[in-house]
Formats: sequence, structure tokens, C-alpha cells
Amino acid sequence: TPQETFYERVGGEPTFRAIVDRFYAGVPDDPVLAPLYPSDDLEGARERLTLFLMQYWGGPRTYDEWRGHPRLRMRHAPFAIGEAERDAWLARMRAAMDEVGLDPEHDAVLWEYLTMAAEAMRNR
Ligand code: HEM
Repeated sequence: TPQETFYERVGGEPTFRAIVDRFYAGVPDDPVLAPLYPSDDLEGARERLTLFLMQYWGGPRTYDEWRGHPRLRMRHAPFAIGEAERDAWLARMRAAMDEVGLDPEHDAVLWEYLTMAAEAMRNR
């Protein structure tokens, strides 16, 4: 239906879980990203990104109920994010999305957003 959200069009929660699970599976072995993330709470970090993306694309608003307004730039301020960190994040995400294999139209929409958002998170 025309009212269907992007969240629904790409397959809902399982699709976002699949992408973010694959992203985080690579974080501990990533020399640039591993030091930034809480090694004792990668599960929590994974849940936060999953719920955020689900909400952003029109799914359930569980992220907001749990964490409040996203304020992503502010929440990233404690981490030094320069070009290297941005590129490492995007490379991991690209690999995760390739593994999941969205159809090309959906892939392009999600990827454009993520590349823009990653650049916006840069604070160095
Ligand atoms: C949290 C790094 C880009 C969404 C975090 C955390 C780190 C981090 C270290 C803390 C982990 C945690 O949740 O405990 C980075 C780096 C990026 C990047 C290096 C490279 C540019 C992005 C992008 C998005 C995003 C593009 C969204 C499209 C989030 C969310 C959280 C988070 C939703 C949890 C916020 C909260 O509720 O506390 N990020 N991030 N990040 N990041 Fe990123």
C-alpha cells in the first residue's frame, strides 16, 4: 500500500536486526572502532542502534520510550569521530548491508541516509 513505511517495505524488525547484528559482530575486531565502543556492553549498543533505526524509518517508537529524544550529535560528543572513524563505521555498515542484501532501491535509500548521518556525527 502507498502508506506503507520504509520500515515495513524492507521487512520490518528482522531486517534492521540482521543489519545491526552483522555490524556489531565486526566491531570487536575493528582496530579503529573497537576502542570507542563499550566492550562490556556491545549488546546494549546493538539494541540502541537497532531500535533507533527501526524508529527512524517508521517502525515502533520503542527507542524514544527507552532513551528519550535521540540527540545523536550530542550523544556522540564523548567519542572522537574524525574521518578515519567515520570511514571505519561506514565500511562496517557497508559490509553488514552487503551480507543482508536488500534490494537495490532500498539499499540506495538506506545507504544515502547512513553516509549523510555518519558525516554529521563527525566532531573532529
Ligand atoms: C551510540 C560511535 C555513527 C547511531 C554510539 C556509541 C559509539 C558510537 C561509540 C556508544 C555505544 C553505545 O550505544 O553504548 C559511532 C561512530 C560513528 C557513528 C564512530 C561514525 C560516524 C552513527 C550513525 C548513527 C548512529 C551514522 C545513526 C544513523 C547511534 C545510536 C547510538 C549510538 C542510536 C545510541 C545512542 C543512545 O541511545 O545512547 N555510536 N557512531 N551512530 N550511535 Fe553511533
